Amino acid sequence: MKILVSGGCGYIGSHTVVDLLKENYEVVIVDNLINSKREVLDNIKKITNKEVTFYKVDLCDKEKLKEVFEKESIDAVIHFAGLKAVGESVEKPLMYYENNLISTINLLDLMREFNVKKIVFSSSATVYGNPDSLPIYEDFPLSTTNPYGTTKLMIENILKDLYKSDNSFDITILRYFNPIGAHKSGLLGEDPNGIPNNLMPYIVRVATGKFPILNIFGDDYKTVDGTGVRDYIHVCDLSYGHVLALKNKKTGLKIYNLGTGKGTSVLELVKKFESVNGVKVNYQIAPRRDGDIDACYASNEKAVKELGFKPKYTIEDMCRDSYNFVKMNTN
Ligand code: NAD
Ligand code: UFG
Repeated sequence: MKILVSGGCGYIGSHTVVDLLKENYEVVIVDNLINSKREVLDNIKKITNKEVTFYKVDLCDKEKLKEVFEKESIDAVIHFAGLKAVGESVEKPLMYYENNLISTINLLDLMREFNVKKIVFSSSATVYGNPDSLPIYEDFPLSTTNPYGTTKLMIENILKDLYKSDNSFDITILRYFNPIGAHKSGLLGEDPNGIPNNLMPYIVRVATGKFPILNIFGDDYKTVDGTGVRDYIHVCDLSYGHVLALKNKKTGLKIYNLGTGKGTSVLELVKKFESVNGVKVNYQIAPRRDGDIDACYASNEKAVKELGFKPKYTIEDMCRDSYNFVKMNTN
C-alpha cells in the first residue's frame, strides 16, 4: 500500500514515516521544507534502511501536487503539512488560513479526482477550547482561541462536509494532545527555529545552556501545584497511532483523541526532566500566558477500544529522549 505523507519531514510526520516503513508500507513524502530539513530523509534511511520517495512541493501549488498524483499510484494519505505556531498565527492570520486551508482543499480535491478516498488528518486538542470538565471526550463542544486552532476546526468541518457529500471517503481525524520526546536513536526529533513556543523545547534549551532560564507561565492555576497541566504523549506513541488508524477496519468518518489520559503539571515535568537527566533546569515563575488554560487531558478510551491504541512510553522516557535528541544534535 502506498501512502502519501504530507509534511513527512516534520516532527510527527518523520516518526510516522519510520513506523510506516517498518510495517512495509511504501511512502511518498510531499513537503516544502518550510519547517523541516532535507537531512531528515537521510536519517529516516539510517533508521529503517529503506527508501522513501520525496517531492519538495508546496501543497498550495495544485499543479505541482497534481503531478505527484499522476506519477504515484496513491492508496491513502496522511496529512500533517501545515503551519503550527499559535503566536505566529495571531500575528499573521492570513498566512495561516492560506497555507493550512488552501493546501488541504487542494489535497482533498486531487484525492477526489484520483479516487483516493482514505485520509488521516492531524487535528489538535486545541479544538476543545477551554473544556468545562476533564478528561476531554471526542463529543465535547468545539471552539478555538487563535487562528491556528481555527484552521484545524475549519478543516475538520471541511472533512465532515466532504464526507456528507461522498460517503465513500474514509476519514480519520486524530486530535493530538501534547507530543514531546524523540526517536530513541537521536536521529529524529523536534528542532524548532528561533525561540520555541512549547514547553519541552524550551526546557531542553535551558538544560543545555542555550537559554538562561525557563519562565513558568503562572503558578495560580487550579491544579495540583498551581502550574498548567497537560497530557504529554511520546511522539513515538503518537506516530504509531497513525498506523493503527490506517489499519482500522471501521470506515466512515471517525474522530479520536490521541493522548495518554494523564495530566502532568509544568513543575512536575521540570522536576522529572532534572531527575531523569541529572541536570538542573533554572526556572522562575512568570505571569500567565494569554490564552492558556488550567488543565487539558484526554480521555483516550475511544482510541484504545477502536484502534487498539496503547501508549507505552512514560514521562521519564519522554524527558530522556527529548534531551538525548538535542544533545546529539547540538553543534
Ligand atoms: P512540523 O512543522 O514539524 O511539520 C509540518 C511539516 O509540514 C513541515 O515539515 C513543513 O515543512 C510542512 N509544511 C507546512 N506547510 C506546507 C505546505 N504548504 N506544503 C508542503 N509542506 C508543508 O509540525 P509537527 O509538529 O510535525 O505537526 C504535524 C501536524 O500536526 C501539523 O498539522 C500540526 O498542526 C499538527 N499538530 C501538532 C501538534 C504539536 O504539538 N506538534 C499538536 C497538535 C497538532
Ligand atoms: N509553558 C511554560 N513556559 C514555557 C512554555 C510553556 O510555563 O516557556 C507552559 C504553558 O503555560 C502550559 C504548558 O507549559 O501550561 C504547555 O505549553 P505548550 O506551549 O507546550 O503547549 P500548549 O498546551 O499550550 O499547546 C500545545 C500546542 C498547540 C496544541 C496544544 C494541544 O502548542 O498547538 O498543545 O495539542 F493545540
